Amino acid sequence: MRPIHRALSALVSLYLAYAIPVSFAMDEEITMQGGDTSVSDSSPSAYDHIAPNLNEAAAVALHEVGQTGFLRNFGRVKIRGALRLGPTFNAPSCISCHGGNGRGALRVTRRAVGSDTVVKVSLPTGKPSVPGGPVAVPTIGLQIRDHAIAKHHPEALVRIIWRNEAGAYSDGIPYTLRTPALRLSKNKTPMPRGVLTSLRRAPPIFGTGLLDAVSDAEILSRADPFDLNSDGISGRANTVWDVQTRATAVGRFGFKASAPNLRQQVAAAYATDMGVTNPLFKRGTKTPEIPARILDATTFYSATLGVPMARDQSDPTVIFGRALFTQFGCHSCHTPTLTTGAGSHPALSNQTIHPFSDLLLHDMGEGLADQRPDFSATGNEWRTTPLWGIGLTEQVLKGRPATYLHDGRARSIEEAILWHGGEASAAQSRFRAASVTEREALIRFLRGL
Ligand code: HEC
Ligand code: HEC
Repeated sequence: MRPIHRALSALVSLYLAYAIPVSFAMDEEITMQGGDTSVSDSSPSAYDHIAPNLNEAAAVALHEVGQTGFLRNFGRVKIRGALRLGPTFNAPSCISCHGGNGRGALRVTRRAVGSDTVVKVSLPTGKPSVPGGPVAVPTIGLQIRDHAIAKHHPEALVRIIWRNEAGAYSDGIPYTLRTPALRLSKNKTPMPRGVLTSLRRAPPIFGTGLLDAVSDAEILSRADPFDLNSDGISGRANTVWDVQTRATAVGRFGFKASAPNLRQQVAAAYATDMGVTNPLFKRGTKTPEIPARILDATTFYSATLGVPMARDQSDPTVIFGRALFTQFGCHSCHTPTLTTGAGSHPALSNQTIHPFSDLLLHDMGEGLADQRPDFSATGNEWRTTPLWGIGLTEQVLKGRPATYLHDGRARSIEEAILWHGGEASAAQSRFRAASVTEREALIRFLRGL
């Protein structure tokens, strides 16, 4: 570090020590994870409630229209005799990937009507389709569509091959971690050499209206790109392209925070995952396959789902686990508390929420890297995954296997933590070195979120 930088760094760390709330006070009440949108339900429909503070009739009606849009199977809807789905697609409806508004079950197969896990692709060099974005693969774009409507061919078929690797906690208890490798076959056109790929499972979608309402300033206040406070953690925001304002913006949705707001995330899902053109992604059509009204209603539906309340927070084991969450440094990225600014509806505005994410990108090390940059996110960087509702994952999946991390490689919360590297190496080492009792207490705390 140059002397000027060192001096600056010392000054800034002094400032940051006060400016950034790095602690997670033991008495901070976190049960109402979604503020006034919180819902008490730990059944398989835990993520499937309208926010209880959304009580005016017009808003409830819009949420319901949006729900219809979320459930709609585009493989069954025709306009002027033509299917709106595809011609190539990954799945025919939002719900087929986000079952119960939750995460996908890591299904990539031609034997089902759709896959809930996708492969993003791009080229290492070339002209990006939007400023600063990834470079599209000719004839494919930025994602492989592994399904197609009748008389059309999928862009390629995808198979995941798992490689197992054995490891052990410091106390000698063994574990196995698995890494996916992709096999693409029956490509419609040959895949160019050097194509970059990234496997992504579908994340839960509740609480996204609240995350949309967190101001850029709130997100940027926690960024520390040069690690000036020397805590080994240097979160930074992704800088992405807003297709509506045609300008750069802070990224917040997707595993690499590559979408700037919820409306664009949902519009991209229609266009990319289902092949349904819309006002934001028209793909050369004059009249998009869905109008703004439907896009807005589906966006509103996702925005106004209730967030599950945390459970068991006064249980002594959970209290101990919560203390370890701070002691291990998990809270430095999985920020317990954020506040929202102005939301798309007053029910989402000025809420104190507990998503357990700073919405920033972190270098998570080579082990988790996909080596596919997405806007300013490098191949090693991922957005801190919100942990709210994580303890209800298995219930919502109703017996289908629960998986964690961007590509679903982790089969348990423990495995997800063991994969943490890069900026999270110290936190991972503390977890690996902890006793069985401590590890179990930490997991109990997370299972109560
Ligand atoms: C083929 C499966 C699939 C379909 C269909 C699909 N999604 Fe997704 N969804 C995903 C994946 C995979 C991601 C993660 C994308 C990324 O990492 O950039 C995602 C991300 C999201 C997110 C961002 C969540 C977050 O925390 O950042 C929202 C919101 C969302 N989807 C809503 C929808 C809506 C609404 C629809 C229907 C219009 C839809 N999705 C259709 C697979 C799907
Ligand atoms: C340096 C920042 C950082 C620290 C420190 C950190 N995490 Fe994470 N965490 C992340 C990021 C980024 C991801 C997403 C990684 C991915 O999907 O590849 C993640 C993912 C997770 C997941 C998976 C969530 C899901 O639904 O897939 C869990 C569980 C988790 N972290 C728990 C913890 C715990 C417990 C600790 C402390 C021992 C911790 N993390 C420390 C950044 C961090």
